[in-house]
Amino acid sequence: MCGIIGYTGSANAIPKMMKGLSVLEYRGYDSVGVAAQRKNGTEIVKCKGRIGALEEKLRDEPIEDSRCAIGHTRWATHGGPSDENAHPHRAGKVVLVHNGIIENYKELRSELLGKGAVFLSETDTEVAAALINDCYAAEREPVAAIRKAAARMRGAFAFAILFDGREGEVYVIRRGSPLILARGRDGFYLASDMTALLPFTREYCALKEDEIACLLPDGVSICPADGTRFPPEWKTTTMTPESAQKGGFAHFMLKEIHEQPAAVVKSVSPRVNSKGLPDFSADGINADFWRSVRHIQVVACGSAMHAGLLGQRLIEDYAKVPTTVHIASEYRYHPPVMSEGTLVVVISQSGETADSLAALRYAKEQGIPTLAIVNAVETTIAREADRRVYTYAGPEIAVATTKGYCTQASVLWMIALAMAHAAGRLTDEKAREAVNCLLRDVPAAMEQMLSREDRYRKAARGLINHEHVFYIGRGIDYALSMEAALKLKEISYIHCEAYAAGELKHGTISLVEAGTPVLAISTERDLFDKTESNIREVRSRGAQVTLICRSDIAVPSETADELISLPVSSNAATVFSALLAVQCIAYEAASLLGCDIDRPRNLAKSVTVE
Ligand code: AGP
Ligand code: GLU
Repeated sequence: MCGIIGYTGSANAIPKMMKGLSVLEYRGYDSVGVAAQRKNGTEIVKCKGRIGALEEKLRDEPIEDSRCAIGHTRWATHGGPSDENAHPHRAGKVVLVHNGIIENYKELRSELLGKGAVFLSETDTEVAAALINDCYAAEREPVAAIRKAAARMRGAFAFAILFDGREGEVYVIRRGSPLILARGRDGFYLASDMTALLPFTREYCALKEDEIACLLPDGVSICPADGTRFPPEWKTTTMTPESAQKGGFAHFMLKEIHEQPAAVVKSVSPRVNSKGLPDFSADGINADFWRSVRHIQVVACGSAMHAGLLGQRLIEDYAKVPTTVHIASEYRYHPPVMSEGTLVVVISQSGETADSLAALRYAKEQGIPTLAIVNAVETTIAREADRRVYTYAGPEIAVATTKGYCTQASVLWMIALAMAHAAGRLTDEKAREAVNCLLRDVPAAMEQMLSREDRYRKAARGLINHEHVFYIGRGIDYALSMEAALKLKEISYIHCEAYAAGELKHGTISLVEAGTPVLAISTERDLFDKTESNIREVRSRGAQVTLICRSDIAVPSETADELISLPVSSNAATVFSALLAVQCIAYEAASLLGCDIDRPRNLAKSVTVE
């Protein structure tokens, strides 16, 4: 969580900070602040609230003469959102911004209090600033001071640090939290992710764990622990400034929903060989590897975990490889039994989720092979996994994931096909046919579904005045229901639960009363009759039912109050169409309620704390 940014060079630093912070805001928006070096020292301007609040403050007292600055947009972990807790924090000669958590901040705080330090905030970050300042007093040199302080800190951090008297110098270090360096025409940058720097440059270098870097107006040096210094190896990102903008849509979420048909093609096509068969050799994975996998443990959080639940059904159905799905934050504390042939698959859009990263590291420590399905390239999870498969969704800015989940689902579909084909469970013909469905039917069906806004709005109208909503489904539709319920909850704040359609009657049906909205998903023909019985159970208790159902099923008119039908060119097309429908229903509900769709309360896009 939190977005950090910094710049040193020949241009005015504050406009760059503001532009970058407005892009980074999706990572956290409890408070915002900048620290700018000026002739007479470093000035800090910060406040609770969003970027607009800081803009207002800077309008009254503009900073036009700074060429070196750092900035922060916060997702509070230690201390509530307030002016005092906002970053940057100062301690003596040190001013810094931080992304992460210093786990041992309490003991460090009391030690530093003993040495006379004074704390103005409740944050762990201010303790880190005081520790670095204490080490700087002893070492008198920034890199040595940072290294000494880092050795004493437990937890995760990315810091951007200014030292009094060190004009034009920005120091950074990272452990666990992400940090990118970049080279522009008029200076050097740092940021939590590349999207914030796209307005300025496309040349970047990802900092490695525990590396310190020193940014000067005319160059950057990386300072590893052995005392050497070397320049970064710059790479050019394929992202463009447009890819991180709204492109005429009212919200990033809507834009990203619309990008899904193309995103599926982008994520599937690199895994199709010249014979039209599923093939991950471009990702460094061959058929022998797939054949060696005896069981899979999928580990992820939130929507990525829901994508895993979908993947579980596909991998077990197609490849018959037993697959279990685990919430990443639970994984290490009750790890499932691992044995010869276990593959741990970590799924993460951001590639930086701390819980997922910790699970990945745990699996690696046990000597278990790991594979990461990640969207953001060059991120920690992608780097640390033994094998990686990128989803190529492009930058996802809305906090609620749509194209991220959708591309994870399509990559998992391809993995299921590749495993089944490698094991001889799928003939060439069947495999080719299934690949074609993903490449042709799915994008076409999703495009078709995009034009049904009025249906989604109508369904959303039926939800917005209710306290509880249920999604129900069986099989793959139960997995989809979980994602559907999360989508609705996180952006519209309507309480929604997903239930296996047959499970509702075992207790939760007591919550259904006259008018309770129930949305039922039915993409599997064979399961429709059973799901329909469950719909009747809730209808006879007064529920208002919206049925999202494949169009080749003749649904009796008394089954549902509303019907949203799905194209049936293939099973995959039906599943992805249902996904699009539930995303749009959540979007419309949040829009009718006037919610902040791209930045829902209390959330942040990239959860880099455990
Ligand atoms: C999705 O809409 C959520 N905001 C959230 O559940 C997210 O999927 C989860 O935090 C995992 O993120 P990741 O994919 O970046 O690891
Ligand atoms: N722990 C710091 C704070 O609460 C940074 C939070 C974060 O990175 O999410 O201010």
